[in-house]
Amino acid sequence: MKKNTILVELSTLILFLVPFDLSATDGYSVYQKHCMRCHAELMEKKEVLKVMHTLKAPPMNEVSNRLRENIVITDDDDDVKRRVTIAFIKDYIENPSIQYSMCHPMAIEKFGIMPSLKGKLSENERQAVAEWVIDRYKGINFQ
Ligand code: HEC
Repeated sequence: MKKNTILVELSTLILFLVPFDLSATDGYSVYQKHCMRCHAELMEKKEVLKVMHTLKAPPMNEVSNRLRENIVITDDDDDVKRRVTIAFIKDYIENPSIQYSMCHPMAIEKFGIMPSLKGKLSENERQAVAEWVIDRYKGINFQ
């Protein structure tokens, strides 16, 4: 009898813990905390052109689209492409560089290169936000 009660309590505890644990590295909250002040979540091209002077960086849908278009895996393997894109984003957060930026040259001239966020995000946070940058914009084009 007692054993059962403990089991039930344990499973309730686990039910509670799992969602909290996941939300600790929820990509969207990492974006909100570390990226949103520069990268707007979603903007249309014509809107960007209109308010360009007020922006600090390209909107995240533009960033995500550029990565999608520029990172090409010749055998068209989506899993490999995803891994490479995640690796690129995670690295770019810490080591942004004019050499590696896929941004439009005009955008770089306007915004400058992204400042490094080295030491500000944990490995888990970088992983979560990198996945979010890819998944959030699936099927959404920058137009
Ligand atoms: C202080 C402003 C600022 C913050 C904060 C910021 N960025 Fe950026 N980011 C920029 C600017 C400006 C660019 C465009 C120039 C460049 O490519 O470096 C950029 C470019 C990028 C690119 C490269 C796109 C390409 O085409 O090469 C990625 C990826 C990126 N940001 C991801 C992020 C993520 C993820 C975060 C949050 C963890 C973040 N940024 C936070 C300013 C910022």
